[in-house]
Amino acid sequence: MSEINTRIALGHESYYERHIFFCLNERKAGEECCVQNGSKAGFDRCKQLVKQAGLSGPGKVRVNKSGCLDRCAAGPVAVVYPEAVWYTYLDASDIDEIVESHLKNGKVVERLLTPPHLGS
Ligand code: FES
Repeated sequence: MSEINTRIALGHESYYERHIFFCLNERKAGEECCVQNGSKAGFDRCKQLVKQAGLSGPGKVRVNKSGCLDRCAAGPVAVVYPEAVWYTYLDASDIDEIVESHLKNGKVVERLLTPPHLGS
């Protein structure tokens, strides 16, 4: 058994309870990308709300930027681990709901789930 599998089998907790990644990929020349669809604002708002709520830090929540997550057709997208839940958000109220419901209380926001068939 590998070290990582041993750690999982022994029930070691992950460093963060939840880790959300926002695609902040930006393409040149007006090509479709998450930044073109407002992902910077979504990321900034999420980071701010998580910090204000005292949710950030080890054992809690981490908000990170990512490059292209290869689901551009569904963008802007963010993904939450360890649940591997994908969201497509449109505005500030969507981010507010993801933070309050999922990141704070562990309840998936069904209405914002990225359609499973939408990829790159
Ligand atoms: S540009 Fe965001 S998923 Fe590809």
